[in-house]
Amino acid sequence: RVNRAYKMNSDNLQECVLKQIDRYEAVDSNVLAAALETDHQAIVGAIKSIQCYGDVIKVEPRNTKKWNVTEEGKQVIKNGSYEYNIYQAISAEGTLQSEVLQKIPNSKIGFSKAMSNKWVKVDKKCEGGPRVFRNIEDLKDETRHSLLAIQNGGVEQIGEKVLAELKKRKLAQEIVNKSFFIQKGGAFCLKLQKPETDLTAQMIQDGSWKSKTFKDYNYNALGAPPAAGHLHPLMKVRSAYRQIFLEMGFTEMPTNNFVESSFWNFDALFQPQQHPARDAHDTFFISDPAASTKFPAEYLERVKTVHSKGGFGSQGYRYDWKIAEAQKNVLRTHTTAVSARMLYKLAQQEEFKPVKYFSIDRVFRNETLDATHLAEFHQVEGVVADRSVTLGDLMGVLREFFRKLGIEKLRFKPAYNPYTEPSMEVFGYHPGLKKWVEIGNSGVFRPEMLRPMGLPEDVNVIAWGLSLERPTMIKLGIDNIRDLVGHKVDLQMVYDSPICQMDF
Ligand SMILES: *[C@@H]1O[C@H](CO)[C@@H](O)[C@H](O)[C@H]1NC(C)=O
Ligand SMILES: *[C@@H]1O[C@H](CO)[C@@H](O)[C@H](O)[C@H]1NC(C)=O
Ligand SMILES: *[C@@H]1O[C@H](CO)[C@@H](O)[C@H](O)[C@H]1NC(C)=O
Ligand SMILES: *[C@@H]1O[C@H](CO)[C@@H](O)[C@H](O)[C@H]1NC(C)=O
Repeated sequence: RVNRAYKMNSDNLQECVLKQIDRYEAVDSNVLAAALETDHQAIVGAIKSIQCYGDVIKVEPRNTKKWNVTEEGKQVIKNGSYEYNIYQAISAEGTLQSEVLQKIPNSKIGFSKAMSNKWVKVDKKCEGGPRVFRNIEDLKDETRHSLLAIQNGGVEQIGEKVLAELKKRKLAQEIVNKSFFIQKGGAFCLKLQKPETDLTAQMIQDGSWKSKTFKDYNYNALGAPPAAGHLHPLMKVRSAYRQIFLEMGFTEMPTNNFVESSFWNFDALFQPQQHPARDAHDTFFISDPAASTKFPAEYLERVKTVHSKGGFGSQGYRYDWKIAEAQKNVLRTHTTAVSARMLYKLAQQEEFKPVKYFSIDRVFRNETLDATHLAEFHQVEGVVADRSVTLGDLMGVLREFFRKLGIEKLRFKPAYNPYTEPSMEVFGYHPGLKKWVEIGNSGVFRPEMLRPMGLPEDVNVIAWGLSLERPTMIKLGIDNIRDLVGHKVDLQMVYDSPICQMDF
């Protein structure tokens, strides 16, 4: 009800304003406020809303400045300026400085003013303490006279310098009176017609559009943010990586199995069964179902042989390979387990065809949790299988891949990985951090891994991997991974995080 009453009032006010303008032709908003006995602010509101109806009125802002005497200035008018009062307090034969300072209100200001005006002088060597003397015969209280002139509307008589001085002393102030000068516009009317916001089929049919006024588009209006879900920043970065792989002609591997047998996770990758990574301290083992039973029999046999006896020019690890160890189910520790499955599948085709695969998905390791490690994270992996690809090809692909991420300067450092040889760590120069940062790991898969699958002898497979979390943290300036992943994530951060653009 309150709203309605207010609206009626403001509608009325608009019409009253229009009537006044009709009467005076041109009028100042202050005059309108006085004539209508309304608050000036309400008049300004009415003017603004009338302006929404098009060229009904012409409005020009006006700033009139006025000088006004402050409360303190009024006191000075009544009682004289402090400096004048100091002068007056000094007798013909001089007065003790301490006495003068005590007697007069605001004496400190007055005294220094009188001194700088050279109205008075001090003799410090007098008996009984410093004495002040009049320095001139007679004087007029200019400050008081100026203030009086301002009060009586005669501000023009006073020089700029004096005005500035009075303003600085807070005895007078300049007041800006903001108002609007209003005239009739080309479409002036006494009764406002709400302009149409949309052209309807009805208006076209009955021809009423011809006589209607239409509201202008407001191109400066901000759109209402659509109520929509928001991708987690990690998923935005994932899309950016996926886009780069797709641009480079890679195909995404199916990574929808978090549980994997040790066979595909370790044995197929020529990782020995006594390797520390296969310990319960590093890997999560599944208790139910604890073991997998279905494996390609011939391939399993060849993997067993290459581990225990060697083959394809390798002497193997020479230990007693056990099927029971390979059967153990684990949460996959890397997406390379998926790459192994895909390469095995590739090897089963009658004719070898080169492939470029990628995957971005979750892996699990029994890490000690800290600011940069969680027990699960995302691995980004790229794999290229072709005849006679070399370490040089790997470097070339890496340069292209990271160039698309905006990382131009790369360095490679020899490294050791269980299933690649040679292996290289990849470093990128970070212009923001001004240093070389490790950004990935890479290598050429060992023949002990590829040949048992049945891939031709001249087929090499190059691969590289990196984590998804690390570049995202660098990108968003997050230094604790728990702020990015997990139950402590601030949903506002997800809401506010910008569109991902990988400019490292
Ligand atoms: C002038 O100053 C007095 C205070 O001394 C104040 O009450 C008054 O509103 C001022 N006049 C204007 C027009 O602002
Ligand atoms: C006014 O000035 C006289 C001296 O001229 C001084 O004695 C008196 O205290 C002053 N009063 C005020 C209110 O400043
Ligand atoms: C502004 O000026 C008008 C006269 O033009 C006067 O009626 C009004 O009170 C002034 N407003 C202020 C805030 O000084
Ligand atoms: C993870 O490792 C710790 C020792 O580092 C061990 O105590 C714990 O049981 C392991 N967790 C699982 C689920 O294997």
